[in-house]
Amino acid sequence: MRKIIIGNWKMNPKTTEEAKKLFRKASEIKTKKSEIIIAPPFIYLPLLKSRKIKLAAQDVFYKQEDAYTGEISPAMLKSLGVNYALVGHSERRMEIGEDDELINKKVKAGLKAGLKIILAVGEKQRDGEEFWKFLKNQIKSDLRGVQKKLAKNLIIAYEPVWAIGTKKPIYPGDLLETAIFIRRTLLDIFGRKIALTVKILYGGSVEPENAREFLETEGISGLLVGNASLDAEKFKKIIKETDK
Ligand code: 13P
Repeated sequence: MRKIIIGNWKMNPKTTEEAKKLFRKASEIKTKKSEIIIAPPFIYLPLLKSRKIKLAAQDVFYKQEDAYTGEISPAMLKSLGVNYALVGHSERRMEIGEDDELINKKVKAGLKAGLKIILAVGEKQRDGEEFWKFLKNQIKSDLRGVQKKLAKNLIIAYEPVWAIGTKKPIYPGDLLETAIFIRRTLLDIFGRKIALTVKILYGGSVEPENAREFLETEGISGLLVGNASLDAEKFKKIIKETDK
């Protein structure tokens, strides 16, 4: 099974020229064992084309058209050939105040429109046992009412907030435990057959040096890479780990 490696550029790079250059370098990476997806800022989406790399939006709105200033609909992404959208990134939850109710609407609308939705979830702190409850509630709220038949287009990106941009990734043992926990939660929601098809990715301080141990963790189908995806060499090294 090919691993999914997503580069989330966040609000980078500053110019279209830099974006095109970074994308070109990513499209030159040769890999047999991974599927590369780049999530650039919206305005770069129409400028980046490659037969090898798929594009993801970093967000998507929950209405298809009408008067919603500043928003981008699932239909607009589809018409551009963008088939993936990230929803619920912790930076949007925390900085912009997106809550589970809004995220749930985006997940449902995106899936209904035929997008593949990468739902980002993760606890703010990992101490004591409370965070398990938090994680379960978050996943259940974000996926409330999602039709079972659409779950095949759902990807869960587990990104513990404390590990994002901190150079302190999760311990592989803890990741394994969490992947099992997320799978169980998906089982509660969708039942066994469907829960087993949903891919779970890890994100949070992924670097060439640690990518391998996360990729080898049972139940983890790939990585969501932030900072290191802005460095063409590092991103290449991470992808090359899937081919070893
Ligand atoms: P870093 O890889 O920079 O920690 O970011 C992870 C992330 O938020 C990807 O969506």
